[in-house]
Amino acid sequence: MSRLLYIQASPRGQRSHSVAVADAFIEAYEQKHPDDEIVILNVFDAPIPNFDGLAVQAKYTILHGKPHSQAEQEVWKDVEQVIEQFTSADKFVLAVPMWNFSIPYRLKQYIDLLVQPGYTFSYSPEAGYQGLVSGKPILVVYARGGEYPPGSGVEGLDMQTKYIELILGFIGFKDIHSVVVEPTLQGGPDAAGAKRQGAIEKVKEIAEVF
Ligand SMILES: Cc1cc2nc3c(=O)[nH]c(=O)nc-3n(C[C@H](O)[C@H](O)[C@H](O)COP(=O)(O)O)c2cc1C
Repeated sequence: MSRLLYIQASPRGQRSHSVAVADAFIEAYEQKHPDDEIVILNVFDAPIPNFDGLAVQAKYTILHGKPHSQAEQEVWKDVEQVIEQFTSADKFVLAVPMWNFSIPYRLKQYIDLLVQPGYTFSYSPEAGYQGLVSGKPILVVYARGGEYPPGSGVEGLDMQTKYIELILGFIGFKDIHSVVVEPTLQGGPDAAGAKRQGAIEKVKEIAEVF
């Protein structure tokens, strides 16, 4: 039995295109793997901790190879819980909207909690940076209001797919499936509906081999 962590980074509930497509994947996946556990984490609803002063200090303490102070230990427990939920999963689905050419701030907050030395990546002068989340598949469903296809001249504005791919690669993912729903706004609701349907067909195929 596998545990699949389904991370939703849209606060738009039923209106979200990325969530609708990822939901269709989950439905198809569950039919194929009825005994697997699906854990849903919406980064806007979940009480994920802030990554501020003391937590950042605790990160630097680790980077400097020193033990945590009592106060750092306290705050770091919450960070570890977020990491533990993530690293204990066997498979991942991420539904992510484009916000201002990048990703929603709550997902960035989640990533800042997750990407920690000794937990999700390691560094040594000999080996350099190495991702520690290895051998696990992830499906990423991207949604954006406009269109940024390769060769369009505006693909350089897309910091959404580039950043997510970079960060997933950095922490060790190699088996990355990507599906893009675009445009969800620019072409009107009919075009968005057709694109969404096309994306749903694609994720159903991915569910067969995931
Ligand atoms: C705060 C905010 C910023 C956005 N910025 C962009 C953007 O830079 N480029 C774009 O194409 N669409 C942008 N959009 C539109 C969303 O990408 C689009 O509505 C997408 O479908 C959102 O994903 P969702 O349907 O899964 O919530 C933005 C939407 C919001 C709410």
